[in-house]
Amino acid sequence: MNTETVKELLNSYQTPMYVFDIGILRKRVAYLKERLPENVSLCYAVKANTFIMKELDDIIDRFEVCSPGELSICRELKMPMEKIIFSGVYKTPSVVNDLMDKEVPIGIYSAESMVQYRLLVDASKKAGTKIKIMPRLTSGNQFGMTEDEIKDIIKEVRENELLDICGIQFFSGTQKTSLKKQKRELEHVDEFLQTLKEELDFTPEELEFGPGFPVTYFQGEDFDEDEYLNEFSNLIREMNFKSKITLELGRSIAASCGSYLTKVVDMKTNKGQNYAIVDGGINQLVFFGQSMAMKHPLCHMYPEREDGVINNWNLCGSLCTVNDILVKQLPIMDLKLDDVIVFDNTGAYCMTEGIALFLSRDLPEIVFIDEYKKHKSVRKTSPTHPINTPNY
Ligand SMILES: Cc1ncc(COP(=O)(O)O)c(C=O)c1O
Repeated sequence: MNTETVKELLNSYQTPMYVFDIGILRKRVAYLKERLPENVSLCYAVKANTFIMKELDDIIDRFEVCSPGELSICRELKMPMEKIIFSGVYKTPSVVNDLMDKEVPIGIYSAESMVQYRLLVDASKKAGTKIKIMPRLTSGNQFGMTEDEIKDIIKEVRENELLDICGIQFFSGTQKTSLKKQKRELEHVDEFLQTLKEELDFTPEELEFGPGFPVTYFQGEDFDEDEYLNEFSNLIREMNFKSKITLELGRSIAASCGSYLTKVVDMKTNKGQNYAIVDGGINQLVFFGQSMAMKHPLCHMYPEREDGVINNWNLCGSLCTVNDILVKQLPIMDLKLDDVIVFDNTGAYCMTEGIALFLSRDLPEIVFIDEYKKHKSVRKTSPTHPINTPNY
């Protein structure tokens, strides 16, 4: 984010704030689409950032929703239900039964376990509603099902006119920098799809695969993304499975559009260490892979200074815990009270993975910047103290 934009935002809004640049977001989707093979379409995992999903509706084929709360946000935003895959562990009977009666049905349900699959079967039978299901193949953790369970489901569904196994879902983790790991996993899934063909004469219409594409958060950790996507695309082309592949992506779509702005509100030197206290903190900003605030995130200062003494600063938030350190020993030129630190690449997860309720601090304002650089607030600063207040 350039200095002019930061200046304008600070004239209109209070720190701390999150800013999502919709122009950057849309360019990011175009960038990914350009570099992926033709049989690949994109599904946005809304957990990465629920605020921006409406802005993606016309350029993204599907939205992965993982909880009833996320589904409520989709309804509120009037997202097209047929583009939703209702995924995630633990769907309750009441939530699922309720969905069966809706005029516009949910596009696809993922099934995380045999118990969850049975729940979907019962609900569709009770309502007489035809539904599409994607069983999730486990990668060896608490998520998804084994190969044998999925085979059993496929055999069983042949007898059931209300169910359509439209694909297989697979997601094993995020921030996957290793193409070797991508290769191993794509080959593993491809082999399983081959087995389904050979043993059951079953080929799903599509594979929904979460590749966990990585995002750069820290200085000096950049990678050649063009090369990475090129090699990943080659791996897709080498698969025996030639039907549609949907890539479930959160971080890689949303991260680059976001910035978090927080202001220096206090400064001190205690026992030789410089501390700058900012009005935000770890309740509002979390970086995947940050370890004890040792790494230096992609960030820059406002105002920018060209002359002055560079000192190392520990940037601490406003929580009453020694853990509230955003960055340790960040070299900053001539830091002053009221200076603002702009953390970049913070559009995915960074603002929702924090301990937002701790100390009952307000949630920051959220501002959109559009393609013409116009800004508007899409969520006012919101208090959390009502949530932490008992209501006898
Ligand atoms: C099932 C599933 N799909 C997709 C994603 C998105 O992952 P990422 O943000 O790494 O793209 C997640 C993230 O947790 C997930 O659980």
